[in-house]
Amino acid sequence: MSDTIPQLSSYDEPSLEAAFATLSAEVRQQAAALANAEAQENFRLHWLGRKQGRLKLISDAWLKAAPAEARKPLGIRFNQLKQQIEETLESGAVAAKAGAETNVQGIDISLPGTARQPGIAHPLLSTMHEVVRVFHQLGYSTNLGPQVESDFYNFEALNFPPNHPARDTQDTLQIANQQARPSRDRLLMRTHTSPVQIRTMIAQGPPVRIVIPGKVHRNDAADATHSPIFHQIEGLCVDTNITFSDLKGTLDHAMKALFGSAVKTRFFPSFFPFTEPSADVQISCIFCGGTGCRKCKHSGWIELLGCGMVDPAVFAAVTAERRKKNPDDDAYDPAKISGFAFGMGVERIAMMLHGVSDIGQFYSGDMRFLEQFA
Ligand code: PHE
Repeated sequence: MSDTIPQLSSYDEPSLEAAFATLSAEVRQQAAALANAEAQENFRLHWLGRKQGRLKLISDAWLKAAPAEARKPLGIRFNQLKQQIEETLESGAVAAKAGAETNVQGIDISLPGTARQPGIAHPLLSTMHEVVRVFHQLGYSTNLGPQVESDFYNFEALNFPPNHPARDTQDTLQIANQQARPSRDRLLMRTHTSPVQIRTMIAQGPPVRIVIPGKVHRNDAADATHSPIFHQIEGLCVDTNITFSDLKGTLDHAMKALFGSAVKTRFFPSFFPFTEPSADVQISCIFCGGTGCRKCKHSGWIELLGCGMVDPAVFAAVTAERRKKNPDDDAYDPAKISGFAFGMGVERIAMMLHGVSDIGQFYSGDMRFLEQFA
Protein backbone atom coordinates (compact mmCIF):
# COMPACT_ATOMS: atom_id res chain seq x y z
CA MET A 1 0.00 0.00 0.00
CA SER A 2 1.26 3.45 -0.86
CA ASP A 3 2.33 5.58 2.06
CA THR A 4 3.37 8.74 0.32
CA ILE A 5 1.27 11.81 0.76
CA PRO A 6 0.07 12.97 -2.65
CA GLN A 7 0.79 16.54 -3.66
CA LEU A 8 -2.12 18.89 -4.10
CA SER A 9 -1.25 21.34 -6.87
CA SER A 10 -4.06 23.78 -6.18
CA TYR A 11 -7.09 24.16 -3.93
CA ASP A 12 -9.50 24.94 -6.72
CA GLU A 13 -12.53 22.75 -7.32
CA PRO A 14 -11.19 20.67 -10.26
CA SER A 15 -7.91 19.93 -8.47
CA LEU A 16 -9.74 18.77 -5.32
CA GLU A 17 -12.08 16.67 -7.43
CA ALA A 18 -9.18 14.98 -9.20
CA ALA A 19 -7.13 14.40 -6.04
CA PHE A 20 -10.05 12.77 -4.17
CA ALA A 21 -11.02 10.71 -7.20
CA THR A 22 -7.54 9.22 -7.10
CA LEU A 23 -7.76 8.46 -3.40
CA SER A 24 -11.23 6.97 -3.78
CA ALA A 25 -9.97 4.74 -6.59
CA GLU A 26 -7.10 3.64 -4.35
CA VAL A 27 -9.57 2.67 -1.63
CA ARG A 28 -11.76 0.76 -4.06
CA GLN A 29 -8.82 -1.10 -5.52
CA GLN A 30 -7.51 -2.16 -2.10
CA ALA A 31 -11.01 -3.10 -0.91
CA ALA A 32 -11.39 -5.55 -3.77
CA ALA A 33 -8.31 -7.41 -2.55
CA LEU A 34 -9.38 -7.92 1.07
CA ALA A 35 -9.29 -11.72 1.40
CA ASN A 36 -9.64 -12.23 5.13
CA ALA A 37 -10.14 -10.55 8.47
CA GLU A 38 -6.46 -9.88 8.90
CA ALA A 39 -6.19 -8.04 5.58
CA GLN A 40 -9.29 -6.12 6.51
CA GLU A 41 -7.76 -5.00 9.80
CA ASN A 42 -4.57 -3.90 8.03
CA PHE A 43 -6.67 -1.93 5.59
CA ARG A 44 -8.48 -0.26 8.46
CA LEU A 45 -5.24 0.72 10.18
CA HIS A 46 -3.72 1.92 6.92
CA TRP A 47 -6.56 4.36 6.31
CA LEU A 48 -8.13 5.12 9.67
CA GLY A 49 -5.26 4.56 12.13
CA ARG A 50 -5.56 7.37 14.64
CA LYS A 51 -1.96 8.56 14.52
CA GLN A 52 -0.40 7.15 11.37
CA GLY A 53 -3.54 6.51 9.31
CA ARG A 54 -3.33 7.76 5.76
CA LEU A 55 -6.48 9.81 6.05
CA LYS A 56 -5.16 11.62 9.09
CA LEU A 57 -1.73 12.30 7.51
CA ILE A 58 -3.21 13.57 4.26
CA SER A 59 -5.80 15.73 5.94
CA ASP A 60 -3.15 17.21 8.25
CA ALA A 61 -0.89 18.01 5.31
CA TRP A 62 -3.57 19.42 3.07
CA LEU A 63 -5.61 21.30 5.62
CA LYS A 64 -2.62 23.09 7.12
CA ALA A 65 -1.71 24.75 3.83
CA ALA A 66 -5.32 25.33 2.75
CA PRO A 67 -6.65 28.87 2.26
CA ALA A 68 -9.66 29.60 4.48
CA GLU A 69 -12.26 29.25 1.69
CA ALA A 70 -10.96 25.78 0.72
CA ARG A 71 -11.39 24.26 4.18
CA LYS A 72 -15.05 23.52 3.85
CA PRO A 73 -14.91 21.70 0.48
CA LEU A 74 -11.83 19.84 1.72
CA GLY A 75 -13.59 18.80 4.92
CA ILE A 76 -16.65 17.57 3.02
CA ARG A 77 -14.51 15.47 0.70
CA PHE A 78 -12.51 13.96 3.58
CA ASN A 79 -15.76 12.96 5.22
CA GLN A 80 -16.99 11.31 2.04
CA LEU A 81 -13.74 9.41 1.69
CA LYS A 82 -13.90 8.32 5.31
CA GLN A 83 -17.46 7.13 4.78
CA GLN A 84 -16.38 5.13 1.74
CA ILE A 85 -13.66 3.43 3.82
CA GLU A 86 -16.06 2.65 6.68
CA GLU A 87 -18.68 1.24 4.33
CA THR A 88 -16.01 -0.93 2.74
CA LEU A 89 -15.09 -2.26 6.18
CA GLU A 90 -18.69 -2.97 7.12
CA SER A 91 -19.56 -4.83 3.94
CA GLY A 92 -16.17 -6.56 4.13
CA ALA A 93 -16.97 -7.87 7.61
CA VAL A 94 -20.26 -9.25 6.41
CA ALA A 95 -18.58 -10.85 3.42
CA ALA A 96 -15.91 -12.41 5.64
CA LYS A 97 -18.58 -14.03 7.81
CA ALA A 98 -20.74 -15.26 4.99
CA GLY A 99 -17.72 -16.28 2.90
CA ALA A 100 -17.38 -19.07 5.42
CA GLU A 101 -16.12 -22.32 4.02
CA THR A 102 -12.70 -21.27 2.73
CA ASN A 103 -12.15 -18.56 5.34
CA VAL A 104 -10.40 -19.78 8.49
CA GLN A 105 -11.22 -16.56 10.37
CA GLY A 106 -14.94 -16.69 9.64
CA ILE A 107 -17.64 -19.01 10.92
CA ASP A 108 -18.11 -22.18 8.95
CA ILE A 109 -21.86 -22.71 8.96
CA SER A 110 -21.46 -26.11 7.30
CA LEU A 111 -19.87 -27.62 10.44
CA PRO A 112 -22.08 -29.35 13.06
CA GLY A 113 -22.84 -27.13 16.08
CA THR A 114 -21.54 -27.59 19.62
CA ALA A 115 -24.03 -29.87 21.41
CA ARG A 116 -24.92 -28.51 24.83
CA GLN A 117 -25.86 -31.28 27.24
CA PRO A 118 -28.77 -30.22 29.43
CA GLY A 119 -27.99 -30.82 33.12
CA ILE A 120 -29.91 -33.39 35.15
CA ALA A 121 -30.64 -33.69 38.84
CA HIS A 122 -28.01 -35.72 40.72
CA PRO A 123 -29.42 -39.18 41.59
CA LEU A 124 -29.32 -38.33 45.31
CA LEU A 125 -31.23 -35.12 44.70
CA SER A 126 -33.84 -36.84 42.53
CA THR A 127 -34.25 -39.54 45.18
CA MET A 128 -34.82 -36.85 47.81
CA HIS A 129 -37.37 -35.22 45.53
CA GLU A 130 -39.16 -38.55 45.04
CA VAL A 131 -39.44 -39.22 48.76
CA VAL A 132 -40.40 -35.66 49.60
CA ARG A 133 -43.10 -35.74 46.91
CA VAL A 134 -44.75 -38.77 48.50
CA PHE A 135 -45.09 -36.85 51.78
CA HIS A 136 -46.15 -33.61 50.09
CA GLN A 137 -49.07 -35.58 48.69
CA LEU A 138 -50.02 -36.44 52.28
CA GLY A 139 -50.05 -32.74 53.19
CA TYR A 140 -46.53 -32.47 54.63
CA SER A 141 -44.36 -29.43 53.94
CA THR A 142 -40.56 -29.19 53.79
CA ASN A 143 -38.30 -27.65 56.42
CA LEU A 144 -34.53 -27.18 56.35
CA GLY A 145 -31.93 -26.46 59.01
CA PRO A 146 -28.21 -25.69 59.37
CA GLN A 147 -25.49 -28.32 58.90
CA VAL A 148 -23.38 -26.75 61.63
CA GLU A 149 -25.52 -27.33 64.72
CA SER A 150 -25.26 -26.70 68.41
CA ASP A 151 -25.09 -29.56 70.90
CA PHE A 152 -28.50 -28.50 72.20
CA TYR A 153 -30.42 -29.06 68.95
CA ASN A 154 -28.45 -32.08 67.77
CA PHE A 155 -28.41 -33.95 71.10
CA GLU A 156 -29.66 -32.39 74.31
CA ALA A 157 -33.19 -31.41 73.26
CA LEU A 158 -33.49 -34.81 71.58
CA ASN A 159 -32.98 -36.45 74.98
CA PHE A 160 -29.30 -37.33 74.58
CA PRO A 161 -28.00 -35.88 77.89
CA PRO A 162 -24.33 -34.77 78.00
CA ASN A 163 -22.05 -37.81 78.39
CA HIS A 164 -24.94 -40.22 77.81
CA PRO A 165 -23.76 -43.40 76.05
CA ALA A 166 -26.49 -43.00 73.40
CA ARG A 167 -24.24 -40.32 71.89
CA ASP A 168 -21.77 -43.06 70.98
CA THR A 169 -24.19 -44.30 68.30
CA GLN A 170 -23.50 -41.14 66.31
CA ASP A 171 -19.71 -40.60 66.12
CA THR A 172 -19.66 -36.83 65.92
CA LEU A 173 -17.42 -34.38 64.06
CA GLN A 174 -16.96 -31.54 66.54
CA ILE A 175 -16.02 -27.99 65.56
CA ALA A 176 -12.62 -27.11 67.11
CA ASN A 177 -12.08 -24.73 70.06
CA GLN A 178 -15.55 -24.90 71.61
CA GLN A 179 -14.43 -25.83 75.14
CA ALA A 180 -14.94 -22.32 76.49
CA ARG A 181 -18.65 -22.42 75.62
CA PRO A 182 -21.38 -23.94 77.76
CA SER A 183 -21.91 -27.51 76.57
CA ARG A 184 -25.29 -26.79 74.99
CA ASP A 185 -23.81 -24.11 72.72
CA ARG A 186 -20.86 -26.12 71.44
CA LEU A 187 -20.89 -26.47 67.67
CA LEU A 188 -20.70 -29.68 65.68
CA MET A 189 -21.59 -31.01 62.26
CA ARG A 190 -25.14 -32.30 62.62
CA THR A 191 -25.19 -36.09 62.80
CA HIS A 192 -28.83 -36.38 61.75
CA THR A 193 -31.70 -34.22 60.50
CA SER A 194 -33.60 -34.60 63.79
CA PRO A 195 -32.43 -31.19 65.19
CA VAL A 196 -34.78 -29.60 62.67
CA GLN A 197 -37.68 -31.27 64.54
CA ILE A 198 -36.71 -29.19 67.57
CA ARG A 199 -36.17 -25.99 65.60
CA THR A 200 -39.59 -26.42 63.96
CA MET A 201 -41.52 -27.10 67.18
CA ILE A 202 -39.88 -24.14 68.95
CA ALA A 203 -40.90 -21.92 66.03
CA GLN A 204 -44.47 -23.18 65.49
CA GLY A 205 -47.24 -24.85 67.43
CA PRO A 206 -49.08 -28.03 66.41
CA PRO A 207 -50.32 -29.32 64.07
CA VAL A 208 -46.93 -30.07 62.49
CA ARG A 209 -46.44 -32.19 59.39
CA ILE A 210 -42.98 -31.75 57.92
CA VAL A 211 -40.28 -33.57 56.02
CA ILE A 212 -36.67 -32.52 56.42
CA PRO A 213 -34.24 -33.52 53.68
CA GLY A 214 -30.57 -32.69 54.20
CA LYS A 215 -26.90 -33.43 54.55
CA VAL A 216 -25.52 -34.99 57.73
CA HIS A 217 -22.00 -35.80 58.93
CA ARG A 218 -20.48 -38.58 61.00
CA ASN A 219 -16.95 -39.62 61.80
CA ASP A 220 -17.41 -42.92 59.96
CA ALA A 221 -14.75 -44.54 57.79
CA ALA A 222 -15.77 -44.61 54.15
CA ASP A 223 -16.51 -48.03 52.67
CA ALA A 224 -18.91 -49.43 50.07
CA THR A 225 -21.96 -48.53 52.17
CA HIS A 226 -20.70 -45.72 54.46
CA SER A 227 -19.63 -42.16 53.87
CA PRO A 228 -18.74 -39.50 56.48
CA ILE A 229 -21.14 -37.17 54.67
CA PHE A 230 -24.51 -38.54 53.65
CA HIS A 231 -28.15 -37.53 53.38
CA GLN A 232 -31.26 -38.18 55.41
CA ILE A 233 -34.95 -37.43 55.17
CA GLU A 234 -36.66 -36.91 58.46
CA GLY A 235 -40.38 -36.72 59.06
CA LEU A 236 -42.35 -35.28 61.97
CA CYS A 237 -46.09 -35.29 62.58
CA VAL A 238 -47.57 -33.77 65.75
CA ASP A 239 -51.30 -33.26 66.34
CA THR A 240 -54.08 -34.35 68.66
CA ASN A 241 -54.66 -38.11 68.81
CA ILE A 242 -51.67 -39.20 66.73
CA THR A 243 -51.07 -42.89 67.41
CA PHE A 244 -48.63 -45.63 66.48
CA SER A 245 -51.26 -46.82 63.97
CA ASP A 246 -50.94 -43.50 62.15
CA LEU A 247 -47.18 -43.99 62.03
CA LYS A 248 -47.53 -47.51 60.65
CA GLY A 249 -50.15 -46.50 58.09
CA THR A 250 -48.15 -43.48 56.93
CA LEU A 251 -44.89 -45.37 56.48
CA ASP A 252 -46.58 -48.39 54.89
CA HIS A 253 -48.22 -46.07 52.37
CA ALA A 254 -44.93 -44.21 51.73
CA MET A 255 -42.97 -47.43 51.12
CA LYS A 256 -45.63 -48.69 48.69
CA ALA A 257 -45.62 -45.33 46.89
CA LEU A 258 -41.82 -45.47 46.60
CA PHE A 259 -41.16 -49.12 45.84
CA GLY A 260 -44.44 -50.42 44.41
CA SER A 261 -47.75 -51.52 45.86
CA ALA A 262 -46.60 -55.14 46.31
CA VAL A 263 -44.11 -54.09 49.02
CA LYS A 264 -44.89 -55.14 52.60
CA THR A 265 -43.57 -53.46 55.74
CA ARG A 266 -42.81 -54.77 59.21
CA PHE A 267 -41.83 -53.01 62.42
CA PHE A 268 -39.23 -54.19 64.94
CA PRO A 269 -38.64 -52.79 68.40
CA SER A 270 -35.62 -50.48 68.48
CA PHE A 271 -34.20 -47.60 70.48
CA PHE A 272 -33.76 -43.89 69.84
CA PRO A 273 -33.52 -41.46 72.76
CA PHE A 274 -36.09 -39.10 71.22
CA THR A 275 -38.82 -41.65 70.41
CA GLU A 276 -40.67 -44.06 72.69
CA PRO A 277 -41.61 -46.63 71.63
CA SER A 278 -39.11 -46.80 68.75
CA ALA A 279 -39.00 -49.13 65.78
CA ASP A 280 -36.88 -50.15 62.81
CA VAL A 281 -38.88 -50.57 59.64
CA GLN A 282 -38.14 -53.31 57.14
CA ILE A 283 -39.67 -53.69 53.70
CA SER A 284 -40.07 -56.95 51.82
CA CYS A 285 -37.09 -57.36 49.47
CA ILE A 286 -37.79 -55.46 46.25
CA PHE A 287 -35.38 -57.71 44.34
CA CYS A 288 -36.75 -61.15 45.16
CA GLY A 289 -40.22 -60.23 46.41
CA GLY A 290 -39.46 -61.76 49.79
CA THR A 291 -38.33 -65.26 48.82
CA GLY A 292 -34.71 -64.52 49.74
CA CYS A 293 -31.74 -63.47 47.59
CA ARG A 294 -28.17 -62.16 47.89
CA LYS A 295 -29.35 -58.55 48.20
CA CYS A 296 -31.51 -59.24 51.28
CA LYS A 297 -28.98 -61.73 52.67
CA HIS A 298 -31.61 -64.44 52.08
CA SER A 299 -33.92 -63.03 54.74
CA GLY A 300 -36.54 -61.64 52.35
CA TRP A 301 -36.46 -58.28 54.18
CA ILE A 302 -34.46 -55.06 53.90
CA GLU A 303 -34.12 -52.60 56.79
CA LEU A 304 -34.81 -49.07 55.65
CA LEU A 305 -35.67 -46.60 58.37
CA GLY A 306 -35.97 -45.72 62.03
CA CYS A 307 -39.10 -44.29 63.62
CA GLY A 308 -41.14 -43.95 66.78
CA MET A 309 -43.57 -41.91 68.84
CA VAL A 310 -42.08 -38.56 69.95
CA ASP A 311 -40.73 -39.00 73.51
CA PRO A 312 -42.42 -36.70 76.08
CA ALA A 313 -38.89 -35.58 77.09
CA VAL A 314 -38.57 -33.97 73.64
CA PHE A 315 -41.87 -32.10 74.09
CA ALA A 316 -40.60 -30.98 77.52
CA ALA A 317 -37.36 -29.58 76.05
CA VAL A 318 -39.34 -27.76 73.35
CA THR A 319 -41.78 -26.36 75.92
CA ALA A 320 -38.90 -25.10 78.11
CA GLU A 321 -37.54 -23.17 75.12
CA ARG A 322 -40.96 -21.82 74.10
CA ARG A 323 -41.56 -20.63 77.68
CA LYS A 324 -38.56 -18.31 77.43
CA LYS A 325 -40.81 -16.25 75.15
CA ASN A 326 -44.21 -17.09 76.62
CA PRO A 327 -44.15 -18.42 80.22
CA ASP A 328 -47.65 -19.92 79.82
CA ASP A 329 -46.94 -21.84 76.64
CA ASP A 330 -48.35 -25.36 76.70
CA ALA A 331 -48.80 -26.02 72.99
CA TYR A 332 -46.75 -29.21 73.29
CA ASP A 333 -48.33 -30.54 76.46
CA PRO A 334 -48.14 -34.36 76.02
CA ALA A 335 -51.54 -34.62 77.72
CA LYS A 336 -53.05 -32.83 74.71
CA ILE A 337 -50.94 -33.83 71.72
CA SER A 338 -48.78 -36.66 70.50
CA GLY A 339 -46.67 -37.31 67.45
CA PHE A 340 -44.43 -39.58 65.49
CA ALA A 341 -41.09 -39.15 63.77
CA PHE A 342 -39.11 -41.15 61.27
CA GLY A 343 -35.77 -40.89 59.52
CA MET A 344 -34.24 -42.61 56.52
CA GLY A 345 -30.97 -42.59 54.60
CA VAL A 346 -31.20 -41.20 51.09
CA GLU A 347 -28.12 -43.01 49.77
CA ARG A 348 -29.48 -46.36 50.86
CA ILE A 349 -32.76 -45.77 49.04
CA ALA A 350 -30.99 -44.46 45.92
CA MET A 351 -28.67 -47.50 45.92
CA MET A 352 -31.66 -49.82 46.10
CA LEU A 353 -33.68 -48.00 43.46
CA HIS A 354 -30.80 -47.87 40.97
CA GLY A 355 -28.83 -51.00 41.83
CA VAL A 356 -25.72 -49.06 42.91
CA SER A 357 -23.31 -51.19 44.96
CA ASP A 358 -20.69 -48.56 45.96
CA ILE A 359 -21.87 -45.43 47.79
CA GLY A 360 -18.71 -43.59 46.67
CA GLN A 361 -20.04 -43.44 43.10
CA PHE A 362 -22.51 -40.77 44.19
CA TYR A 363 -19.71 -38.42 45.18
CA SER A 364 -17.11 -39.26 42.51
CA GLY A 365 -18.36 -36.78 39.91
CA ASP A 366 -17.67 -39.46 37.28
CA MET A 367 -19.72 -38.50 34.22
CA ARG A 368 -19.92 -42.12 33.04
CA PHE A 369 -21.81 -42.92 36.26
CA LEU A 370 -23.92 -39.77 36.36
CA GLU A 371 -24.92 -39.87 32.69
CA GLN A 372 -26.84 -43.09 33.33
CA PHE A 373 -29.43 -41.05 35.24
CA ALA A 374 -30.08 -38.65 32.34
N1 PHE B 1 -32.19 -39.58 63.70
C1 PHE B 1 -32.13 -41.03 63.65
C2 PHE B 1 -30.77 -41.46 63.14
O1 PHE B 1 -30.13 -40.70 62.45
C3 PHE B 1 -33.22 -41.61 62.78
C4 PHE B 1 -34.60 -41.38 63.35
C5 PHE B 1 -35.30 -40.23 63.03
C6 PHE B 1 -35.15 -42.29 64.19
C7 PHE B 1 -36.55 -40.02 63.57
C8 PHE B 1 -36.42 -42.11 64.72
C9 PHE B 1 -37.12 -40.97 64.42
O2 PHE B 1 -30.31 -42.54 63.40
